[in-house]
Amino acid sequence: TPLENIRNFSIVAHIDHGKSTLADRLIQSTKTVADRDMKEQMLDSMDIERERGITIKAQTVRINYTADDGQDYILNLIDTPGHVDFAYEVSRSMRAVEGSLLVVDSTQGVEAQTLANVYHAIDADHEIVPVLNKIDLPAADCDRVAEQIEDVIGIDASEAIRVSAKTGIGIKETLEAIVTRLPAPKGTLDAPLKAMLVDSWYDSYLGVIVLVRIMDGQLRKGDRVRMMQNGSVHHVDRIGVFRPAMTEIDVLGPGELGFLTASIKQVRDTRVGDTITHEKKGTDNALPGFKPSQPVVFCGLFPVDAAEFEDLRDSIEKLALNDASFSYEMETSAALGFGFRCGFLGLLHLEVIRDRIEREYDIDLITTAPSVIYDIHMKDGSVEQLHNPADMPDLTHVDHIEEPRIKATILVPDEYLGDVLKLCQDRRGIQENLTYAGSRAMVVYDLPLNEVVFDFYDRLKSVTKGYASFDYQMIGYRTDSLVKMSILVNDEPVDALSTMVHRDRAEMRGRAMVEKLKDLIPRHMFKIPIQAAIGGKVIARETLSAMRKDVTAKCYGGDATRKKKLLEKQKAGKKKMRQFGKVDIPQEAFISALKMD
Ligand code: GTP
Repeated sequence: TPLENIRNFSIVAHIDHGKSTLADRLIQSTKTVADRDMKEQMLDSMDIERERGITIKAQTVRINYTADDGQDYILNLIDTPGHVDFAYEVSRSMRAVEGSLLVVDSTQGVEAQTLANVYHAIDADHEIVPVLNKIDLPAADCDRVAEQIEDVIGIDASEAIRVSAKTGIGIKETLEAIVTRLPAPKGTLDAPLKAMLVDSWYDSYLGVIVLVRIMDGQLRKGDRVRMMQNGSVHHVDRIGVFRPAMTEIDVLGPGELGFLTASIKQVRDTRVGDTITHEKKGTDNALPGFKPSQPVVFCGLFPVDAAEFEDLRDSIEKLALNDASFSYEMETSAALGFGFRCGFLGLLHLEVIRDRIEREYDIDLITTAPSVIYDIHMKDGSVEQLHNPADMPDLTHVDHIEEPRIKATILVPDEYLGDVLKLCQDRRGIQENLTYAGSRAMVVYDLPLNEVVFDFYDRLKSVTKGYASFDYQMIGYRTDSLVKMSILVNDEPVDALSTMVHRDRAEMRGRAMVEKLKDLIPRHMFKIPIQAAIGGKVIARETLSAMRKDVTAKCYGGDATRKKKLLEKQKAGKKKMRQFGKVDIPQEAFISALKMD
């Protein structure tokens, strides 16, 4: 296909503004998929994505469209993950296409995630076509939202397309706009092969499937190709396109998006952003801007039942095969026994992996408090990266500690602004900007990542009744007065509950944690002191008093079934607990103890 008849685009939207519905409608109206095969949300393939309504891997679909000018076009839609955890993946996939549809719900307006993603599109020099969706709803206010797009994002919205992805209004106009308003890709047919590795995932039949965008040259089945990052060479055994089902073809040329398979065993061997070229007569110039994605949030995963350690290892190894951004190493905890210290791109990524281990592999897990990476500057001038508060070196050797900071952008209706400012202030935030767009405020804060990874988003949602939207990016490291706080239960330190906290807040945090733990740990036959300490100094203390009676003593008379039920309940409760010295601590305590309300 000549370049002039190809258009590559992505859809940028805030969650729930209708990205998937619009994509489905474009696919359906061009008869890319027969109506009888159409199921909702064609593009989200993994169960977990479908359930949570998020897209984790980039997906593409090739649409054939005959335009009003009578010509046949190939439209390649690339669907990118919309979540902040996957910002790097988003920025790469944006570089694989030339334009974006900016979908904004005309009953809602611009949200923080819309902004973050549209900036990726602007960075990638995209032509952007605004689409106002959900115009079938009575609450739609297209003029206001168009104005907001111009004010907040600064792009022309006078020719925004008015669409109802649900009823099909405006779909034809959208297809025409893709053809007439988005640029055709550039590329040279007879240049050495240069293809961008956009994404990759594991398929149990075909091995690793690599999604590529051909920049220059041609890729054919049978070619020998080289990954420029690590120099590995592979024999291409299949190439093809997504319609959206995988369809093999013989050759992919400049401007095209498609896939290849090459008997690659691990997703780890294929790095997003890498350049693929031919083994012989390849290019020497890799595409610029490659950087491997780095985990930023770490936590320990331990089996509730120690006997499941090997199963946990298996499941983690399998998941890691398919996810190069997930890291793990074995960890032993005095409190929790054998487990793994795992690294994630963010909290959502952590939750997705944890859910999959629990659900797909049926292993009950104890998840320790998420932690960020601290740079520990030692007195001898060396720098250690601390992934786990339990490994904090002796303070006498430490000169200072630096922690990662983020720039957070929050969009919120006026009436909740006060609560949002308070929340950010409580989390050691520094306000950088505050502007208004209509009745909504946009605040920008510089915040320590460790104050955000835990429950910031939950708190933000609850103080704003779900009306705030939030996005962030890493901005670097800064020194602050940080200390390791340990928790002692029955005078034994529980390493899995150690956290890094700001010195000024240590006492408050310590008190909150011991109070929480007092409620979370069931009474035993003896008195249990629960303490928070910094170094050797106790900063907060609670005592859990001894249990007075057997639980069954509550049942007067001889109600045998009630008694049996209670005992069973007690037994089931036990299963989810771990013993620390002589004390049973329930699984949920490790996370709940850290939540601040
Ligand atoms: P994520 O996949 O979660 O990022 O969301 P999304 O942006 O893909 O949104 P999705 O297409 O799943 O749509 C969100 C909700 O809005 C769904 O319940 C859709 O049925 C509904 N919706 C989408 N488009 C329209 C529309 O034009 N009109 C109306 N009334 N509802 C719509």
